[in-house]
Amino acid sequence: MRTLRDINELRKTLSEIRQRGQRVALAPTMGNLHQGHLALVTNARQHADVVVSSLFVNPMQFGPGEDLDAYPRTFEADQAQLTDAGCDILFAPTVSALYPNGLGSQTRVHVPEVGEGLCGGSRPGHFDGVSTVVSMLLNLVQPDVACFGEKDYQQLAVIRKLVNDLHMPIEIIGVPIVRADDGLALSSRNGYLNEFERAKAPLLYRTLCELRDALVRGTPTEQVLQQGKTALYDAGFTPDYLELRDTTLAPVSSSTRNAVLLAAAKLGPARLIDNISVQLP
Ligand code: PAJ
Repeated sequence: MRTLRDINELRKTLSEIRQRGQRVALAPTMGNLHQGHLALVTNARQHADVVVSSLFVNPMQFGPGEDLDAYPRTFEADQAQLTDAGCDILFAPTVSALYPNGLGSQTRVHVPEVGEGLCGGSRPGHFDGVSTVVSMLLNLVQPDVACFGEKDYQQLAVIRKLVNDLHMPIEIIGVPIVRADDGLALSSRNGYLNEFERAKAPLLYRTLCELRDALVRGTPTEQVLQQGKTALYDAGFTPDYLELRDTTLAPVSSSTRNAVLLAAAKLGPARLIDNISVQLP
């Protein structure tokens, strides 16, 4: 695997690859890689000849007081994992390479509607930061396909819309959530949990499973959501949101059959997110 930090070097390398007629797939990350990230690389491999992963802790998507400084940085271990997973090129730019004039004067990409509410409601500006950096990465790499995890369900929806609205000829692939054996969705932020909190954390997914079962049995949505919030509070979580949406993240209606139940909750120092699909009766 080649590690490239320089934009011009990346462009030169990719233009040679494209001249050979090879298909390129991109899997963007912020590093501190786990099996969830590596599933993106494996998936990318199935769709292209050349797999590019990016590693960039994007300051623009962190709000004031969020964990930008504390975010785990494990570059050498990440490089080794990507090599083993079959990644061909790692693009790891510096902050000043992507934002040479600083964040203040940077052009931003805003995706309305689908980026509002849920994580967009509790993290103002977050999805503008994600949309801006992902637009840059897609523009720099110009992949045929790009892979994103379904764990960040709203992020995936935002990226699908931006690619569609900006007429980027890129296929976006959603990769299923990779979980620990106890059900907890893998996340770099799980490392913030102490032993006691880590033991409690799978309760978020277990609660989502129970609520899904109640919805499938026909229990009214409001009752189920209220029951879920209470269960999370009682277990020591501070729920940020717990919502049922259709698969495009529009509100559910009486005709919705394919829905998704999405949750974000604080547990100690970590903000955990998760989601589960629900077939409504
Ligand atoms: P990061 O949190 O590092 O995640 C990178 C990619 O891995 C995202 O597409 C995310 O959905 C996916 N992912 C994380 N945990 C996963 C899991 N347990 N199962 C499946 N996929 C998982 O998301 C970001 O970085 C950033 O916002 C980024 C898109 C790179 C833009 O900065």
